[in-house]
Amino acid sequence: MITATGLRKAYGDHTVLDGIDLDVPAGSVFALLGPNGAGKTTAVQILTTLKSADAGEIRVGGHDPATEPDAVRAAIGVTGQFSAVDALLTGRENLLLMADLHHLGRRAGRRRADELLVQFDLVDAAGKQVAAYSGGMKRRLDIAMGLVGDPRIVFLDEPTTGLDPRSRQAMWQTVRSLVAGGVTIFLTTQYLEEADQLADKIAVLDGGRIVAEGTAEQLKQLVPGGHVTLRFAEVQALRLAATALDVTEVDADQLTLDVPGDGSVRSLRALFATLDDARVEVDSLTVHTPDLDDVFLALTEKEPAS
Ligand SMILES: Nc1ncnc2c1ncn2[C@@H]1O[C@H](COP(=O)(O)OP(=O)(O)OP(=O)(O)O)[C@@H](O)[C@H]1O
Ligand SMILES: [Mg+2]
Repeated sequence: MITATGLRKAYGDHTVLDGIDLDVPAGSVFALLGPNGAGKTTAVQILTTLKSADAGEIRVGGHDPATEPDAVRAAIGVTGQFSAVDALLTGRENLLLMADLHHLGRRAGRRRADELLVQFDLVDAAGKQVAAYSGGMKRRLDIAMGLVGDPRIVFLDEPTTGLDPRSRQAMWQTVRSLVAGGVTIFLTTQYLEEADQLADKIAVLDGGRIVAEGTAEQLKQLVPGGHVTLRFAEVQALRLAATALDVTEVDADQLTLDVPGDGSVRSLRALFATLDDARVEVDSLTVHTPDLDDVFLALTEKEPAS
């Protein structure tokens, strides 16, 4: 539904996108991750006809944003990173304005606006000026605006930045129901948990290139780092355990010891058996399995300053 090959974009001599390839199948959720300034918004703007690429073959809903911008615009809904709502209008007025832009007609426009107000929990605020909305309410309205035209493809640039956990969960639910209805979603996010929760495929953008791509599970396998941290009450127990487990990395100040492992019940049983045999008392333990944060930090690590 969305493809790009060799997508390039530079501002002056600053190359932001250095030939990236994208492929998002219909009905799936694609998440573009990357540190601040990686070019996520630039990619979204190019795919949604708001900026032109310097090079690359792009198709969105089967159309080229450069030569058929109207056809692309008819197929997509966009929610930008920064709010596009008119603060002087009410929430309902903003939605009706958008319905006008989509030539929905008065009755259909009002029906669509009311549906979205319900869906985004904005019924009570519908008649209030957006200037009086909280950040989360404004964000919900923003996203609702992108859905007025019932798009087949939805672009969400950091949809849940600034939302509280409950609003974020509600947004995820909205994304899931859009997908269940056959909509294709292209989102950018700073929240790795969000990509983990929603995305069928994740691409990590860094230094102008896609440095990793795959499902959340596939990306997690790229980084080692699963371990069990054992904490002891006294240094003698720590030393005994280190010897018994054959671990050389001990933190004598913190009285902790990291044992590589996947945290499975089987591996924990074996660990405890060894500690029991050595008659070592463990104070507490935490299991650390690699998550997308580890992947992100490992893949987008800054070059050490020389
Ligand atoms: N109009 C512009 N002129 C010059 N440079 C620009 C322009 N727009 C963006 N840039 C630069 O391009 C780079 C990528 O910006 P972009 O906004 O796409 O990043 P991003 O990944 O969305 O970052 P963030 O996570 O902060 O939203 C940045 O270095 C930015 O300064
Ligand atoms: Mg951005």
